[in-house]
Amino acid sequence: MTGGRFQWSIAFSVKMDAVPFLEACLEPVCLAVTAFGDSDTDDDWRVEGIAADEPDRAQLKAALNAAFPDGDAPTPVIDLIPPKDWLTENLFEFPPLTVGRFFVHGSHVDDAPPLGMVPIMLDAGTAFGSGEHGSTAGCLTLLEKTAPRLKPRRVLDMGCGSGILGIAAAKLFRCPVVATDIDDEAARVTAFNADRNDVGHLVSAVSGPGYASPVVRAAKPYDLIFENILARPIRKLSKDLARHLAPGGTAILSGLLVRDAPLVITAHRRQGLRLVRHMTINGWRSLVMKKPG
Ligand SMILES: C[S@@+](CC[C@H](N)C(=O)[O-])C[C@H]1O[C@@H](n2cnc3c(N)ncnc32)[C@H](O)[C@@H]1O
Repeated sequence: MTGGRFQWSIAFSVKMDAVPFLEACLEPVCLAVTAFGDSDTDDDWRVEGIAADEPDRAQLKAALNAAFPDGDAPTPVIDLIPPKDWLTENLFEFPPLTVGRFFVHGSHVDDAPPLGMVPIMLDAGTAFGSGEHGSTAGCLTLLEKTAPRLKPRRVLDMGCGSGILGIAAAKLFRCPVVATDIDDEAARVTAFNADRNDVGHLVSAVSGPGYASPVVRAAKPYDLIFENILARPIRKLSKDLARHLAPGGTAILSGLLVRDAPLVITAHRRQGLRLVRHMTINGWRSLVMKKPG
């Protein structure tokens, strides 16, 4: 996503409760969807989707009415946004970020990573995942905390976005990683980012919904699976996750608001997994669940 092309912003100011419903409405039509807020100030959340093409207002209204059947759908503010110089913006918007042992930085940062840190180079772009979102930061933190007890032979990054989680795992464990996303562009960006981080030989990036890709199925079982998507699709994928996870394997799940976590946990308990750890960053809860050995 380098300069040249105008894009569209679809933004809402809402209470935290509405965030997952808006994300579900925006994701099918947007290149990226972000939610900003603070779980302590419940009613001051902003959800923004960036779309390549002008949104179909009637279609968006229908999706909003379906998501808010009580007639209380929030009104979007739709704007045409000028082409961005992503690199320049990056200098201001994406300073290096430290999450646990991971040092996530843009390509404009020349400094050597602090001693003992694992560097991950990513530029802002068309795929979600620069590390600062509470769900991504939660996954990276939980990865670091569980890593000493893990020796995965294969890792799956489901909903890879920029590939940040798969790249982090490839760097930590030096094992093959399959990264997949429903969005073709995310698969492309992940392959590009994996190469830039010298783990291109370990990361296979493919696109397809959930576990549908033959590459995803062929590489199972996985000892570690990330799913940082949203509560609803994560629940729907729980059976597939359990089938693809090796005995004794670990799942790191995120993209859930705190109140959604019990339903996600229940769905995975039904598949025989147990919760071993969780954490919350900015209202986003991340879980570690394990399959019995
Ligand atoms: C919140 S982003 C996470 C990106 C990155 N893994 C991270 O941790 O920052 C969720 C990603 O899941 C993808 N996604 C949504 N539904 C999906 C599905 N059913 N199957 C695969 N990917 C999906 C989206 O396209 C998006 O890139």
